[in-house]
Amino acid sequence: MRTALVTGASSGIGRELARKLDSRGFSVILAARRADRLEELAAELENEATVITADLSDRRECLRLYEETRERRVSVLVNNAGFGMIGDFEKTDLDRELSMLDVNCAAVHILTKLYLKDMTARDKGFILNVGSSAGLMPGGPLMAAYYASKAYVVSLTQSVAEELRARGSRVGISVLCPGPVETEFNDVAECSFAVKGISADYCAEEGLRGLFGRRTVIVPDAGMKLASAAAKVAPRRVVLRTARMMQSKKLDR
Ligand SMILES: NC(=O)c1ccc[n+]([C@@H]2O[C@H](COP(=O)([O-])OP(=O)(O)OC[C@H]3O[C@@H](n4cnc5c(N)ncnc54)[C@H](OP(=O)(O)O)[C@@H]3O)[C@@H](O)[C@H]2O)c1
Repeated sequence: MRTALVTGASSGIGRELARKLDSRGFSVILAARRADRLEELAAELENEATVITADLSDRRECLRLYEETRERRVSVLVNNAGFGMIGDFEKTDLDRELSMLDVNCAAVHILTKLYLKDMTARDKGFILNVGSSAGLMPGGPLMAAYYASKAYVVSLTQSVAEELRARGSRVGISVLCPGPVETEFNDVAECSFAVKGISADYCAEEGLRGLFGRRTVIVPDAGMKLASAAAKVAPRRVVLRTARMMQSKKLDR
């Protein structure tokens, strides 16, 4: 049976991605910190699932996750674990912010590199990095570090995708860039969305459809497709001011 690994499978988009990979016939390895949530999900899945608790803000834990799963010949890696923070850059907590960069960027970087080498050796496999439409924007005042972290994920994925394409590799890599999705994201980031989000179920389905359809950048919602297209042509200062206004609404919860 083919194996998939999903990080951040204890909630939201990751949990839906794990459910959908299971129903597509994968044996899924579920990783996150909350073991009880992962066990609950594993019990619900049709195929045999494996639970691995790991704090991916710790680089050694990323390496341990890889070492514990490399023999399973993971054919789909989903780097989904991540979180956001809101507030003026000079006021947000530095330690929590660095931990966010470790999960949103370093863990994605480490796991992509390690599994990509194995997939390239077999010339087979798929990697889905969960970025954000935030990563398609020139910046996000009041969520500065979060937007920058997701821009990193988008940039890294697009570059690797081009390297793979240029050498005719059959390994696929994509970045999923949703706008607001109804998950626990807001509770963790201590904010609320300015606009209604799409469901995690819809987001996950579009993500997998895009991944297996070999689309490099996947924007699941029509509104965000329009917004990111507009952001490409509008002056950067206008986009930044609009983004700041949208983010300040999130603070009014
Ligand atoms: N919701 C949105 O509007 C939205 C929009 C665009 C992109 N995204 C991205 O989508 C991804 C999933 O977020 P979500 O919306 O589904 O939020 P969520 O419901 O809060 O889920 C976040 C997941 O990440 C895991 N996680 C967080 N810190 C971790 C750590 N240190 N180590 C291991 N796992 C960790 C959490 O598991 P534990 O707490 O159990 O460790 C949880 O399973 C994130 O990368 C987020 O940036 C979300």
